[in-house]
Amino acid sequence: MADKKAQLIIEGAAPVELPVLTGTVGPDVIDVRSLTSTGHFTFDPGFMSTASCESKITYIDGDKGILLHRGYPIEQLAEKSDYLETCYLLLNGELPTAEQKAQFVSTVKNHTMVHEQLKSFLNGFRRDAHPMAIMCGVVGALSAFYHDSLDINDPHHREISAVRLVAKMPTIAAMVYKYSIGQPLMYPRNDLSYSENFLHMMFNTPCEIKPISPVLAKAMDRIFILHADHEQNASTSTVRLAGSTGANPFACIAAGIAALWGPAHGGANEAVLTMLDEIGDVSNVEKFLAKAKDKNDPFKLMGFGHRVYKNFDPRAKVMKQSADEVLDLLGVENNPTLQVAKELEKAALADPYFAEKKLFPNVDFYSGIILEAMGFPTSMFTPIFALSRTVGWISQWKEMIGDPQLKIGRPRQLYNGETLRDYVDIENR
Ligand code: CMC
Repeated sequence: MADKKAQLIIEGAAPVELPVLTGTVGPDVIDVRSLTSTGHFTFDPGFMSTASCESKITYIDGDKGILLHRGYPIEQLAEKSDYLETCYLLLNGELPTAEQKAQFVSTVKNHTMVHEQLKSFLNGFRRDAHPMAIMCGVVGALSAFYHDSLDINDPHHREISAVRLVAKMPTIAAMVYKYSIGQPLMYPRNDLSYSENFLHMMFNTPCEIKPISPVLAKAMDRIFILHADHEQNASTSTVRLAGSTGANPFACIAAGIAALWGPAHGGANEAVLTMLDEIGDVSNVEKFLAKAKDKNDPFKLMGFGHRVYKNFDPRAKVMKQSADEVLDLLGVENNPTLQVAKELEKAALADPYFAEKKLFPNVDFYSGIILEAMGFPTSMFTPIFALSRTVGWISQWKEMIGDPQLKIGRPRQLYNGETLRDYVDIENR
């Protein structure tokens, strides 16, 4: 909706009138699309001030620490919903009725197995490869196995691809883990819930099927919910950019996985644990805080800070509570890593540098701690983020494909390289 106008004064040119768009909530947005006709572009590295799309899926108020999915607060979803219901909500816009939920859960369960040949595909990777490296390849390769659902212009194909991705990601993540430790791959069990099934495929073996703890399954499900979507972050924007070319959904999600891997984004959960190990002892906390504050040192406090949240990360609040429950259940309160984490959190929150720059623990600070306590190796933390986020990526991709305003993503640049010059023969250089 555009009811206001912004006026842009460019020296030596006539004023430009730009529409100001108003969403249902959140700041107004200046529509600069007509600016190119004046021979100007906007310059915004890192998209600090640029909305790249319209969306109805997720809303974040970074100052107030608010995160809503389709209008519902993340705290309520984490407490009252479950992951598959949240997936339905993200994909379809509304919470399902009991009948719709049962149907959706059953459809997802019908797609949990992966093509048998995918196993031999895994054998092409080194066993000591990082699971995210294998995930990028295997998920991208799904388009070679499920090419009966690749017509992006067919809503039924889009639906099937979305369900396949949500259903198969836990199977793939667990396969990648089992492959890396040389254990037999576990088939999914459709009598279990989504999170129980994932824990079963990760930690059981054909010779020992242990029951899954309901508390750990609940904690796992909550971790999935807390990572399910997060508006136009780097990996989601990557998925949208790749999708804007008409690329198939499996290829787009593989692109998202690659973008997520970086330590400034989803790779931070693994980086937190690496950092805590490096700190090693509570007596070293001050030294590492000083490193994080030193402009000449590239070290950053992993699990701290966020581009959008400048007060607190609402996911971190819920995750912290979950971490306390799980650590209590597993009796690991005296674990040295946890002691370092607690001391680091306390010291950073009391430090004026972090307060002034509005740096608070983000979701990844606590998720690594809880995942480690549950028995996951650090290299699996980011694949777990990827499997949880797949529903967000695919919901955003579906929204984009259905958007009549869709255009191929193609940013411009401020060129400051050499101007036109003639080629110089090699003997004259
Ligand atoms: N430790 C120390 N200083 C920091 C940190 C940190 N973790 N984060 C930001 N700063 C400083 C930064 O040096 C800069 O200082 P100055 O203004 O003096 O140059 C200032 O705070 C602003 O930081 P920025 O890097 O310009 O902020 P950004 O919005 O571009 O980056 C971030 C956000 C999350 C990439 C960054 O805070 C960071 O690298 N944090 C550590 C990695 C991390 O935990 N990432 C997970 C994010 S949450 C999960 C997800 O969504 O993927």
